[in-house]
Amino acid sequence: MTASALLSRLRLPVVAAPMFLASGPELVIAASRAGIIGSFPTPNCRTIAELDGWLTQITTALGTGPDAVPWALNLITHSTNTRLSADLEQVAKHHPPIVITALGSPRPVVDVVHAYGGIVLADVVSLTLARKAADAGADGLVCVSAGAGGHTGSLSPLPFIAAVRDSFEGLVCVGGGIATGAGVAGAVAAGADLVYMGTRFLASRESIALEGHKQMVVDSGIDDLVVSAAITGTPASWLRPSLAAVGIDPAATAVVARDYSTEMSNIRRWKDTWAAGQGLSTIRAIDTTAQIVDRLAEEYAAALDRAGRLAFAR
Ligand SMILES: Cc1cc2nc3c(=O)[nH]c(=O)nc-3n(C[C@H](O)[C@H](O)[C@H](O)COP(=O)(O)O)c2cc1C
Repeated sequence: MTASALLSRLRLPVVAAPMFLASGPELVIAASRAGIIGSFPTPNCRTIAELDGWLTQITTALGTGPDAVPWALNLITHSTNTRLSADLEQVAKHHPPIVITALGSPRPVVDVVHAYGGIVLADVVSLTLARKAADAGADGLVCVSAGAGGHTGSLSPLPFIAAVRDSFEGLVCVGGGIATGAGVAGAVAAGADLVYMGTRFLASRESIALEGHKQMVVDSGIDDLVVSAAITGTPASWLRPSLAAVGIDPAATAVVARDYSTEMSNIRRWKDTWAAGQGLSTIRAIDTTAQIVDRLAEEYAAALDRAGRLAFAR
């Protein structure tokens, strides 16, 4: 599928971003059926057999080949991920239309995905990483910016989009604190093709996140977040009340080493301490994914209308 064919098939230019312990097949299917791009990270499956089952469930619901409804699989390509080659065999078997790489170079996946006509997006947090990912053959870049939930970037999204656009002609996706249709319109106006939205869909009915985590997203505001590398070794945005509940003071906690091979300890970290992005202030209820996408579409149309009227007033 080409990038323009992908975009032309969407109701809204949004990816329900992959979230550890939150995105499962129900969320992927609901998001893609609602006209955005659903996704999940492979570590959400404990075993390759479980991954095979999820991929079968998704491809049965969304189709395969050129007519498949767009959806995405997220792979951690960091050198400590010992499951990457087994995950890649599943990619070669099930042909996810889009593969998003994170925490490492997209190089190991590009040939496999391009061989069946899929699209590779690489998650990046700096212009240096963006250039490396483009050189490695990524078709698009996901510019994870300040305000993102989970592992966050530190760049402001608008200058990040501008800097990437300056030297990259592929798909540009941006994420970080965007949880409304107005935010999507703003990102698109600034030059993005797609918006990466995690926290908004964490608090959806189809998300497999713990109910306490979803409710804390609804109940919390922007000042309840703290960015710390102390929990996973990489800067991530956490709900402060969830850290306090397990007695963690991020300022007084030693930074742990990055290691994606110790699956169990990763699960403990993300299960006991809850991540969210700065868009949470606009999330007031745990709705279905279809309801969320309907509201985003209304807000997007209203924002475009408002921008058009402001331009004409001059
Ligand atoms: C609870 C949670 C878990 C996440 N897990 C992953 C993950 O496993 N892989 C990944 O690439 N990104 C992960 N992310 C980051 C999202 O894919 C995305 O970059 C981020 O949610 C965008 O910012 P937003 O939450 O403000 O919309 C996670 C985010 C959250 C909130």
